[in-house]
Amino acid sequence: MVRVLNPRSCLLVAALAIVPVVGVPHAGAQPATQAPATQAPAPTAATTPNIVAVVDQMRIFSEALGVECVFCHVDGPNGRLNYRSEGNPRKQVARSMIALTADINKMVDLGHGDTPATPVTCRTCHRGVPNPRPIADIVRRTVEHEGGLAAAAEYRRLRQTFFGAEAYDFREDTLLGTVQRFIDGRPDDAIELLKMNLEFHPQSSRGYSTLAYAYTRRRDDASAIAALERALELDADNNTARGQLEQLRRYQRRRE
Ligand code: HEC
Ligand code: HEC
Repeated sequence: MVRVLNPRSCLLVAALAIVPVVGVPHAGAQPATQAPATQAPAPTAATTPNIVAVVDQMRIFSEALGVECVFCHVDGPNGRLNYRSEGNPRKQVARSMIALTADINKMVDLGHGDTPATPVTCRTCHRGVPNPRPIADIVRRTVEHEGGLAAAAEYRRLRQTFFGAEAYDFREDTLLGTVQRFIDGRPDDAIELLKMNLEFHPQSSRGYSTLAYAYTRRRDDASAIAALERALELDADNNTARGQLEQLRRYQRRRE
């Protein structure tokens, strides 16, 4: 059974200002100095709406982070979750996040004069994912630690799960911009990601010319030339590709 909420739960509801708590008799009206576990009364008509409010709030958290309840709670007896337990460290992280969000909103309000400010919520940062890092950070970190192949696999997985959600920026420009930052130093990793990019954007002239550039960093001129020819087939006006292709052919002739 879901237990009655404790005073801190009410703080959380109040902090996020979703449900008005003032003037309603409920567990949270007790002074915070009382021990929540022993002082929580049995559910009554007066307390039930607050459990509903807490669970509603919990649903909002879960959706904002794109997770299930067990992400922050732990399994209890009879296949149910034990919501009271502090056994899952994420619950504590979530508490700091609740405080952080309340603090941010206080600051936003301070600078906002009389009109109500747009509230910052979990979703503002989390956008439906537990760890709200931008896709560029994720790619660069994985490239550094596990290489381009792993980064491409991770990108594919995230894209499959989150495409169309507001979670990550999957535009081609963003990926190419990310890859460009390490293309000179890590051409092999860049090539893995650029090949993956062409799975999603097979008609992208810029995708091919960027791949060609990565090949030249690996001194693989034959592959670079093939990629540039494809780039020009797809877009005859891709002058960067035309310039690169002419340059590469000149090198080749000189070597022959
Ligand atoms: C992002 C983390 C997170 C997720 C996801 C989450 N919770 Fe919670 N939950 C908390 C935290 C933190 C508290 C404690 C709040 C406090 O002490 O002020 C809590 C408290 C509760 C309580 C009150 C427990 C008590 O002490 O009486 C219930 C009930 C609850 N959660 C249900 C749920 C349900 C149901 C879901 C899924 C729909 C869920 N939670 C998902 C973080 C989470
Ligand atoms: C100002 C931006 C911001 C807001 C608002 C915010 N978070 Fe977070 N949250 C983060 C960041 C950044 C991280 C990742 C921290 C890290 O990498 O350790 C994070 C991490 C977490 C985690 C740990 C995730 C994991 O993978 O273990 C939980 C749980 C969480 N937030 C819950 C919440 C809840 C619940 C709210 C709303 C009450 C919230 N956050 C509001 C920025 C935010």
